[in-house]
Amino acid sequence: MVTDVREQVYNDTLKEDMGKQVDLRSSGVVSWEQMVNSLTNRPTIDEEVVRVDPSYENNKSVPKKNRRVKPLLQKQIRYGSMAEIQVRYLSSLERKNRSRASRKKKKQATKEELSEFLARSSSLKTAKPEAPSTKAGVMTAPENMDLIPGLLVPYKMASFSLSHRIVLAPMSRLRSHNFLAQPHAILYYSQRTTPGGFLIGEASGISPTAQGYPNTPGIWTKEQVEAWKPIVDAVHKKGGIFFCQLWHTGRSSDNSEASFPAPRRLTTHEITQVVNDFRNAARNAVEAGFDGVEIHGANGYLIDQFLKDRVNDRKDEYGGSLENRCRFPLRVVEAVAHEIGANRVGIKLSPFADSDVSVDSNPEALGLYMVTSLNRYGILYCHMMVPRTMSTLFESKETEGSLSPIRNAFEGTFIVAGGYNRDDGNEVVTSGGADLVAFGRLFLANPDLPRRFELNAELNMYDENTFCTPDPVVGYTDYPFLETDN
Ligand SMILES: Cc1cc2nc3c(=O)[nH]c(=O)nc-3n(C[C@H](O)[C@H](O)[C@H](O)COP(=O)(O)O)c2cc1C
Repeated sequence: MVTDVREQVYNDTLKEDMGKQVDLRSSGVVSWEQMVNSLTNRPTIDEEVVRVDPSYENNKSVPKKNRRVKPLLQKQIRYGSMAEIQVRYLSSLERKNRSRASRKKKKQATKEELSEFLARSSSLKTAKPEAPSTKAGVMTAPENMDLIPGLLVPYKMASFSLSHRIVLAPMSRLRSHNFLAQPHAILYYSQRTTPGGFLIGEASGISPTAQGYPNTPGIWTKEQVEAWKPIVDAVHKKGGIFFCQLWHTGRSSDNSEASFPAPRRLTTHEITQVVNDFRNAARNAVEAGFDGVEIHGANGYLIDQFLKDRVNDRKDEYGGSLENRCRFPLRVVEAVAHEIGANRVGIKLSPFADSDVSVDSNPEALGLYMVTSLNRYGILYCHMMVPRTMSTLFESKETEGSLSPIRNAFEGTFIVAGGYNRDDGNEVVTSGGADLVAFGRLFLANPDLPRRFELNAELNMYDENTFCTPDPVVGYTDYPFLETDN
């Protein structure tokens, strides 16, 4: 799929820059040259290893996860000089000119496809989702949007006007360095931004002790805040709404591969400290320009560990009853909402999931208790993994249970995630099962996912081998857009 990734990225970046959609040159923190250098010349530590050590896969100094680098990838990590890139750029311009005529033809075809799709959709014209609650509701759709079902109907999430309901799910890509988000994330996130689109950033650590995986970003220091700024700026310049996901990994920290402390039970004093860390991180996220934060309370990390009765074996006021197990998570919600305003706060929960053996004996009761308690704080949204959970990140498994009572009890915006595609995404929205749908792997591999859904176009398949490698381009910013949109 990728023959000349650097050229591709250079062209994409330049094209966007020239189109004034993302004015990288004037973004202040990252100059144009720095941006290009970061994508071409500057290796991260892991890449350096790839470059100098052909036996990378056996190199014990590299985290095990990152050793799964194919020989092909090693070949692709070549660093071109600016001159080399410019030559490639010029030759690609020539190629572009040659193919302009054939593109024109294809565009025509796309217009026809779209009218056909709209005609087909008119038979699907559905009642608009439920009447607005006090916090959330449906925006008036432009005339032609009325014909498009489900996912493409605009939505008003309190003060945020979303142009569609396809949310970028938070995804750790392990491409940060030294817990600093890197400039290559500018392109990654801006590729996935649409005007009025909602994006949730990858999980960001709230403190040094919160971290659990190498090459994930943090948001507890000034330097980390500065590193996020140009990324958030780029999303805003394209009209996106961007939330920062805050996490503490708890006992899930991967201490087999990095020197993270071994898990142990927190003292009550430390619990208060962690609550404060969430509060500070939320303030930092706003300082970095994020529109809000999502508290990561799912997938077996610290908050989920407190919530689930098969994991939480505490004997104090944070363990035992449902009320006690929810105490710490709700303290975090309260602190964060108090710090930055409830209308900027969401939470992700996965009561039905069993990630990292984080299991509850009564997930429906747990979910219901949480959302009714969340109503007290009036937070913006609840993002819920559906009972069809990922037992590992990548394998979905049907489980018993229904989200309906939980969805009906929650008063804010309800987002669902977990194995959705275009059809069941449309279905869950039109049936009122959710307001928004978060897409992970499909969005990862299809930067123009909303457009593809609109046209019912073919999707790129994701490559799991490059989900979590350190390469700043391959498997990250090199998934192709629809040709017709170039
Ligand atoms: C590579 C990868 C990284 C992920 N990292 C996170 C993360 O940082 N935070 C989070 O809440 N979920 C994370 N997830 C889970 C996704 O947000 C999403 O819930 C999951 O992939 C199911 O959605 P999907 O079936 O549309 O992919 C990750 C998923 C993938 C594939």
